[in-house]
Amino acid sequence: MTTTRIGGYRPGLVDLATGRISREIFVNEEIYQEELEQVFARAWLFVGHESQVPNPGDFFVSGMGEESVILCRDRAGALHVFLNSCRHRGMKVCRYDEGNTTVFTCPYHGWSYGIDGRLVGVPYFREAYHQQLDKSQWGLVEVAQLCSYKGTVWATWDQTAPPFLEYLGDFTRYLDLTLDGWDGSEGGTEILCGVQKWLIPCNWKFPAENFSGDSYHNISHRSVDLVGIGPSGSGRRDLRERAVARRLQVCLPERGHQTGLYLLPDEPTPPAYQHSPIVAEYFRHCEEERRRRRGTWGRVTGSPGEIFPNTALHPRQPRTIAAWHPRGVHQTEVWRWYLVDAAAPAEVKHFLRDYFIRYSGPAGLTEQDDMENWNYAHAASRGTIARRYAYSYEQGAGFEVDDYRWEGLRIPGGVMDITEAKSSEHNLRNLYRRWAEFMEADNWDQLATWRRPESGPHRSNAGIHSQVAVEAGK
Ligand code: FES
Ligand code: FE
Repeated sequence: MTTTRIGGYRPGLVDLATGRISREIFVNEEIYQEELEQVFARAWLFVGHESQVPNPGDFFVSGMGEESVILCRDRAGALHVFLNSCRHRGMKVCRYDEGNTTVFTCPYHGWSYGIDGRLVGVPYFREAYHQQLDKSQWGLVEVAQLCSYKGTVWATWDQTAPPFLEYLGDFTRYLDLTLDGWDGSEGGTEILCGVQKWLIPCNWKFPAENFSGDSYHNISHRSVDLVGIGPSGSGRRDLRERAVARRLQVCLPERGHQTGLYLLPDEPTPPAYQHSPIVAEYFRHCEEERRRRRGTWGRVTGSPGEIFPNTALHPRQPRTIAAWHPRGVHQTEVWRWYLVDAAAPAEVKHFLRDYFIRYSGPAGLTEQDDMENWNYAHAASRGTIARRYAYSYEQGAGFEVDDYRWEGLRIPGGVMDITEAKSSEHNLRNLYRRWAEFMEADNWDQLATWRRPESGPHRSNAGIHSQVAVEAGK
């Protein structure tokens, strides 16, 4: 028997031509260190929501990859995202989760920074530094680019990354399904309560893959569906509209973003929230309004999706955004924000808060099921023998279409209709295609393929390099 020498990332670990993806990309320490550089230091990442920092001096401590960052609003009302690390010896300058302040004072030696990031106070500046320290050079490190879109705040460390809306491309309209009012009005969401944060013992790509569109894991949630926690009064955990909709998986191959969609027929949406007349009436009214405002597009609703690399969307109820923060190759810290229409009546917000907690998060019946699978799959994949065997991602390959139309709707992106098929791994392949491109590309000139004149609307699903077979595929 020959043993396998394991290195870091190499082309072929993601082999979409055969639908095989090596377990190494989930459990290999060297690959993990490379992806922090290649993926998390270059991509746009979700940081927080403007409603968390409404006033000057407000701050919210968030994360980008493994880094702690401070989202804050300066006196002039401008947003900033700073690395939460003192320029003197690296101490965390802010150790609270959120609050309001005029300065961040480092607890180690006392350097202090204004809420615009400037170094404003240095103990013994006159005596010990002889006034020679150039304070203008030692402000907090700030992200290279920041974008606030419909209340959500995004940032990247890479100056050369395309602007956020270009990074999203056509996916903007799918993100809007989470961020617009349920009645079809522009924006207008707010964060409900705080942020749920918890650790799970698996690689961050397990949840990222699941939210990209794993429509195959119904068996995992069977017990929760029996309990009948859903807003439809009984049965499945989600809304009845699912039963009458076309169900799609949609991805943007050149961007790495993907989502599920429900296309509703041109007839009234099935009722929901029958246990609360006020909530039921609110959503009935919103549905009607949305169709009036948006026309045919008002018949499109979202289901779980993922903005590359680690921001998950859940546009329907529970309406949430999650960040899968990497905490080492074998651990992920999940942060989950819950959104509601800011203009919704208080009764609706109370009802949704209870439902969201019942469904999602560490105590949520549905999310508990998912975590059990990710955690045990990761543990069972990291052994010396186990990691030699690739995972299978062949489901539905070759059945996607580029120009999907149905009852007056045209859906941008690479589309897989899973209404009859029930499931496909189309969106999952898209996640790993893009991940591999990030791992291999030297710069954004290579990654922004849509800027090339010869690039078509969507690239083939055959995917990236397949010249090297993964170990288990030999
Ligand atoms: Fe912050 Fe020294 S580490 S002042
Ligand atoms: Fe699930």
